[in-house]
Amino acid sequence: MNFDSAVIELDWKANAEALVHARSSRIEIGAGSLARGPESWRHAGLLAEGGLVLLVVDPAAASAAGDPLAERLEDAGLRVVRIEVSAGETQKTQPSVDRVLAAAIAAGADRTTPLIAVGGGCVGDLAAFAASVLFRGVPLILVPTTLLAMVDAAIGGKTAINLAFADGSIGRNLVGTFWPAHHIVADPATLSTLPAEEFRSGLAECVKHAWIASPEHLEWLEACAESLVGSGHPKLISPLIEASARIKATLVAEDPLERGVRRHLNLGHTFAHAIEGRPRNRLRHGEAVAVGMVAAAATAEVLGGAEPGTAARMRTLFARLGLPTSLPEGGELAALRAGMNLDKKRSHRGLRLVLPCRPGRVEVVESPPEPAVEAGWRAVGAE
Ligand SMILES: NC(=O)c1ccc[n+]([C@@H]2O[C@H](COP(=O)([O-])OP(=O)(O)OC[C@H]3O[C@@H](n4cnc5c(N)ncnc54)[C@H](O)[C@@H]3O)[C@@H](O)[C@H]2O)c1
Repeated sequence: MNFDSAVIELDWKANAEALVHARSSRIEIGAGSLARGPESWRHAGLLAEGGLVLLVVDPAAASAAGDPLAERLEDAGLRVVRIEVSAGETQKTQPSVDRVLAAAIAAGADRTTPLIAVGGGCVGDLAAFAASVLFRGVPLILVPTTLLAMVDAAIGGKTAINLAFADGSIGRNLVGTFWPAHHIVADPATLSTLPAEEFRSGLAECVKHAWIASPEHLEWLEACAESLVGSGHPKLISPLIEASARIKATLVAEDPLERGVRRHLNLGHTFAHAIEGRPRNRLRHGEAVAVGMVAAAATAEVLGGAEPGTAARMRTLFARLGLPTSLPEGGELAALRAGMNLDKKRSHRGLRLVLPCRPGRVEVVESPPEPAVEAGWRAVGAE
């Protein structure tokens, strides 16, 4: 397969009321896209001659993306103020935002100063939130450096930080804004240092996108599963990112504020959030999503909305991609079921599940019958 590069134009105009600053988000995908970034951002009017740039970098992504980008920006005559923010849900909190804002103001930033975030979904979410509140919003460029951030977190304009409660617990993504990036650059070369298990975690979201919207992409993933995880076949990575990013871009452009089709992106997520909320959870987000999708499929089969064999098909693909398909240490059904209700309590609504029907089609089910939900949990090893 030949693939050089791709550009997706995400058109926000139809839902312009959702946005006050970026009329479109340009997503550039492919080898060399990061190197071309500064020139492209200058053309778009985001970089001023000799101006200041705020570069918020995850240190883990420094060698593959942060350092070369800083060098290019400096070579282009820009003044780069670099702010390092480590990944991790406990770091994705207000004190880190304050550090970014204070460094920006100390550097002399104004409301035209662009903020460029380099890192995975954690640093991207946090830096985007900081960009949205600094002087009530500065231009934002995202350079995602994990597969998950390239196909999911960086696209769609949601920013977020976690709320740290007095008892030491963390409320994930409870604080945030809508602040889409002007430019998003997904250069597969920046994944060169990403640990294999983080790459696989991102693959779970790719499978999710395929199940939601594209039987063809699902078949493609099934055809090259081992190649994707084996040597991470370089020629497959850009088409993978493009297909998956395009699905997310299409859904969020149609429904930026998540009142309709954007909800489909929650496939498997109500189960996954209950798994991630367990005190000693060790699964990464994508790994929990894989288990959650299998549970959702099993629930759908019991309800008759999905053909028998749907959960088995998902299980097979996730296993081939090196992702878990059941709870590694089992789990107590009652506790997991209660974990799903945390969403319900917040919204004062019944449980709402997104369930697969067939490849390319999902449905939103309000207040599903308990036996079906429990069957879903049992299918992934809960007792
Ligand atoms: N805004 C959204 O719409 C949205 C959607 C999905 C997920 N998210 C958020 O994204 C976060 C998860 O994102 P993630 O999976 O990218 O996790 P992450 O940002 O925690 O990154 C995973 C790990 O990879 C490291 N890393 C990042 N890039 C690297 C690189 N190139 N080389 C080596 N190591 C690298 C990080 O330091 C971290 O240890 C969560 O906080 C989630 O809430 C947001």
